[in-house]
Amino acid sequence: MSSDSVNQLTELDFASFKRKVKLAYSLDLDAYKRPQMERRLRANMDRCGANTFQHYYTLMQKDESLRDEFLDRVTINVSELFRNPDQFETLRTRVLPELLEQKKDLSIWSAGCSYGAEPYTLAVLLDEAAPQGRHSILATDIDDKMLARAQKGIFQEAEMRGVTKTRLTKYFDSTDNGYVAKDVLKKLIRFRKHNMLEDRFQIGFELMLCRNVVIYFTDETKAALYERFFASLKPGGYLFVGGTERIANYREIGFESNIPFFYRKPYRN
Ligand SMILES: C[S@@+](CC[C@H](N)C(=O)[O-])C[C@H]1O[C@@H](n2cnc3c(N)ncnc32)[C@H](O)[C@@H]1O
Repeated sequence: MSSDSVNQLTELDFASFKRKVKLAYSLDLDAYKRPQMERRLRANMDRCGANTFQHYYTLMQKDESLRDEFLDRVTINVSELFRNPDQFETLRTRVLPELLEQKKDLSIWSAGCSYGAEPYTLAVLLDEAAPQGRHSILATDIDDKMLARAQKGIFQEAEMRGVTKTRLTKYFDSTDNGYVAKDVLKKLIRFRKHNMLEDRFQIGFELMLCRNVVIYFTDETKAALYERFFASLKPGGYLFVGGTERIANYREIGFESNIPFFYRKPYRN
């Protein structure tokens, strides 16, 4: 068979796999960057001995652990508390004071929160800055397993390396299973399953975080998401992005950006 025919067969195989995955798991693989995603999937396929995507899908249907591994591979859950500490320091010293001056109870969305390191970090900062406020942090992710873990608020030593000793003792209990977030943090956070490529977006947030999620998406998907984040923010609100992320066309969307990694929705466009 010529290499063109092989490529064509692979494309058909992959296209049918994508259709099935979308139907079964509401996961649109076309929204993710193809080379990286395909590399990760092929590594999984090699491990379980699948020689085609169709074969891989069939194996996944029979073995739950393969399905979980597949979803983990595509969505990537790595996180830690105070990830990029300098940026969280900027949030603490510049952005939160500005927002709290305008409103004493903040409504925040952590989108793609993984196992909760990001919303618990936010909860620490809110409790320090304005403990009397009736704040709410909506923390969402596509991955049920991560959300179940996030609810428990349990973190391992390595995920806590950015947490100062003072914060560690004030906000976490040390147990045999790891560090467990105290109720003062837990009561600020609501965890919910949400697929940002499919589901409706809530509106009315003073602050939104979407960090280290869109890096896996195609440019087209990214651009559409940033428009939707803009619409979800209240005027005067901020979008906080990840340490390697930039919104190239932020002005076109309507944002202003005077602080690196933070994009502000002005009062009037
Ligand atoms: C690398 S983690 C980022 C965690 C955290 N935001 C941080 O910066 O540390 C990426 C998270 O995005 C989630 N994710 C991927 N695709 C998603 C989608 N379509 N909708 C919602 N969450 C998604 C993954 O499940 C994963 O938990």
